Amino acid sequence: MDMEEDAVEASIEEFEEAGKIGARVREESRQLINIGEGVLDIAETIEGMIREEGAKPAFPVNVSINNIAAHYTPEFEDKAVVGERDVVKIDLGAELNGAISDTAYTIDLSGEHGKLVEASEKALERAIGMMKPGVAIGEIGAAVEEVIRGYGFKPIANLTGHRISTGMLHTGIDVPSIKTDDPYELQVGEIYAIEPFATDGKGFVSDMEQVEIFSLYMPGRLRMRESRKLLNYIISNYGMLPFAERWLLKEFKSKLLLKNALKEMLRMQVIKAYPVLKEAGGGLVSQTEHTVVIDEGGARVLTKE
Ligand code: CO
Repeated sequence: MDMEEDAVEASIEEFEEAGKIGARVREESRQLINIGEGVLDIAETIEGMIREEGAKPAFPVNVSINNIAAHYTPEFEDKAVVGERDVVKIDLGAELNGAISDTAYTIDLSGEHGKLVEASEKALERAIGMMKPGVAIGEIGAAVEEVIRGYGFKPIANLTGHRISTGMLHTGIDVPSIKTDDPYELQVGEIYAIEPFATDGKGFVSDMEQVEIFSLYMPGRLRMRESRKLLNYIISNYGMLPFAERWLLKEFKSKLLLKNALKEMLRMQVIKAYPVLKEAGGGLVSQTEHTVVIDEGGARVLTKE
């Protein structure tokens, strides 16, 4: 999508369609999460399923395992496989003419962390059940926190849901998983991705050094020819949506030139990095997510089949 298309708002029907695609792919993808399965295969298969539905991945599919909470997408030629005791979170999204859906689930392969998974699922249910026009964002966080603490776990305080708009995954309005005094009130027609994270660790995430996901930040001056070429590629293929280094490595022949171009773009703040996020206490993390629209009477789930 180019920058001009961003000015055109996607219709609610397009958001509904993006939501249905997200839901179908989410449900079909569950069968891929098996012991010994390669994480790269999982991510690329899911991204392929989104494309087969006529949409694009709204962001690189996240396959975040155990104490990795979010922003892990496999690297180019990633060799990691799903382990027999892993808690695997799959976070995926579909983009259709600027309309975006975002949805996630957790698979507990050992079967020993059912309550952890249930905590994030029930917290999401509670949040959606109370969302309607006029409800303050801080109240939703309080409810999410109460449900997760009720299970004996902690919500992750520095990971939030987010308002979505046409071509934008994060509009700057966040929905916390903890009680806050944020007075912002939900309004009719707004679209939100709600994603409670629960953990048996410290309840917050910290950045790792590894970065696999980036997005355009502010177009600016770039010295290197390769950087300018990369910028044009990013603008025309991803717009403001996040992309994976893995995706670029398929298009740009030289790994070294690409790495240097990304470095210059980061230094010049033309792109921003989303470091892999790890639970600060090394705790296991679960996540459940839906995209909803605020109707007059309440929140309606878009990521359902
Ligand atoms: Co998500």
